[in-house]
Amino acid sequence: MKKVAYPIDKRQWCPSLIPGPVVLISTCDSEKNPNIAPKSWVQMVSFEPPILMFSGAKGNTTEVNIMATGCFGVNLVDSSMASRVYRCTEHFGQERIEKSGLRLVEASRIDAPLVDDCRAHLECRLHSTGQVGSGFVVFGEIIAASIWQEILAARGVGRYELLDQIVFVENGMFASINKITRI
Ligand SMILES: Cc1cc2nc3c(=O)[nH]c(=O)nc-3n(C[C@H](O)[C@H](O)[C@H](O)COP(=O)(O)O)c2cc1C
Repeated sequence: MKKVAYPIDKRQWCPSLIPGPVVLISTCDSEKNPNIAPKSWVQMVSFEPPILMFSGAKGNTTEVNIMATGCFGVNLVDSSMASRVYRCTEHFGQERIEKSGLRLVEASRIDAPLVDDCRAHLECRLHSTGQVGSGFVVFGEIIAASIWQEILAARGVGRYELLDQIVFVENGMFASINKITRI
């Protein structure tokens, strides 16, 4: 297999070499105004305590809200929601929520909303932040999780088919994680 040089700039990757799960980060500001934003640079970083991270931008509403309230929701996006979620960044704030048609509900443990249309949610308390190159990384401790009951009623790989999670590959493109192979 002959290899050739490939760009180190992620923006030039086609194909993408590190696809990330598409989620909606849900937050609110100190006056309880809600916000949602798609993110795909998302990763677990610790089992004990359970901590995840996402990479964002310091001045964006999501990150400003998290710094103000100390919490955020991670809502897993499925393929049926993909186009709505990809397009939602054409608008900001309340207008984004309204135009997307996504419904927000209260979370169980955090003072931030969850996106009811999503099939699974993680409720996070802000652990720490760090500027890493151009990325503002937010670490959140997962303090509650919930999932669509029907997913747990399915068996084995059927659960992944129902979760139907997607990953971001390139602008305007996603891949579904619903074909699971046992080794
Ligand atoms: C599918 C998708 C994935 C995205 N992933 C990220 C990401 O991982 N990190 C990031 O900073 N922005 C990401 N963005 C861009 C933000 O969602 C966008 O900058 C948004 O306007 C931020 O909203 P806010 O200012 O309300 O927080 C993504 C956008 C889309 C459509």
